[in-house]
Amino acid sequence: MTTKRGYYGCFGGAFMPEILIATLSQLEKDFYAAKSDPGFWSEYTSLMSSYSCRPTPLTLAENLTRYFGGARIYIKREDLNHTGAHKANNVMGQGLLVKRMGKKRVIAETGAGQHGVATATMAARFGLDCTVYMGEVDVERQRPNVFWMEQLGATVVSVKDGSRTLKDAMNEAMRDWSASMETTHYVLGTVCGPHPFPEMVAYFQSIIGQEVKQQMLQREGRLPDRIYACVGGGSNAVGIFTAFLEDRQVELHGVEAGGKGLASGHHASRLASTDARVGIAQGYKTFFLQDEEGQMKETYSVAAGLDYIGVSPILANLRETGRIQFHAATDNEVIEAVRLTMKKEGIIPALESAHAFAYAYREAPTLSKDTILVINQSGRGDKDIFTIADALGDAKWKEFIIKKARGYESH
Ligand SMILES: Cc1ncc(COP(=O)(O)O)c(C=O)c1O
Repeated sequence: MTTKRGYYGCFGGAFMPEILIATLSQLEKDFYAAKSDPGFWSEYTSLMSSYSCRPTPLTLAENLTRYFGGARIYIKREDLNHTGAHKANNVMGQGLLVKRMGKKRVIAETGAGQHGVATATMAARFGLDCTVYMGEVDVERQRPNVFWMEQLGATVVSVKDGSRTLKDAMNEAMRDWSASMETTHYVLGTVCGPHPFPEMVAYFQSIIGQEVKQQMLQREGRLPDRIYACVGGGSNAVGIFTAFLEDRQVELHGVEAGGKGLASGHHASRLASTDARVGIAQGYKTFFLQDEEGQMKETYSVAAGLDYIGVSPILANLRETGRIQFHAATDNEVIEAVRLTMKKEGIIPALESAHAFAYAYREAPTLSKDTILVINQSGRGDKDIFTIADALGDAKWKEFIIKKARGYESH
């Protein structure tokens, strides 16, 4: 995939202050040494199978298949990873690297909180100090995850700059790293940022697609026709797509946050809309949602984990080459997809993952019965209980929360 080291076509690179270049070069060296050590991948897969439920199942969604009456729908169950999302794949891999590097502290940025919880979990398991940066808006909407991070022993810093979401958390984490790199590793949560992060995160997440390929060949004796994954930074998408890049007959579909609709301007769609422009920020070159002066725009999505201004340079390049198609699903479609998946299959997708479901549901009825679809369920929806209950207008839940709050007031 890489043309020049750290580049994907014209995207990627490492645009960092001089002070961080040596740390990044050392990280690259340590990562390449681990990657070329035949024992490292087996140490990784063994850790993931004993600690994180890998290989995750590939579930045939029989009821949904019948309901839509078109393509056969499979769901790759990354929600069954320890901590409830694909984020564990990347974090545990980087944790093994930290052990090799001998560092004692990790920092991370998080949007939905899933990456923060995964990092705090890894730090607890490996005995590392942990600080997680999170935008103030995300702290509000993902409070249960903040609670868990703190209980797991991490310090959560609420970032009050800018739009107080993921990009601001990422800026703050970079600031911390500039001052602490001797002792600290930055566990970047997605396939973005300066080289070698995109390559490293893609490497650990590639386990998703490798498993899907094997499972699909075992179950169906052939590859799927289409794969759908949601795209925030892009790690679950790159993770499931990578194994299929050379299999041209497999269509790859990335689904971004369409928010209130692309025409409304309230969305976080970089590759499916025409609103993003190529720029350099946060250490790498890609499509960013930015204004004429290059100032980053506010983004919007019901799903905190997709609410980001940049996107993986790997995906930006694969869009340019036409290998992956990009789409957007609106908040309303996403809530409907969560509702339908719960009712028909007894599965609760995260709001982020539900973007992939929503777009696949648009297409499934129009496809023939011998078409096979795979949807990557990147995470489980428990963390979204407040947002989903609001969106569905659940009166009993509201009553419960009011009662609970009254109980706290009277203590
Ligand atoms: C469940 C889930 N899915 C998807 C994402 C988006 O990240 P990525 O595009 O890197 O997979 C997040 C980010 O927090 C997430 O929590």
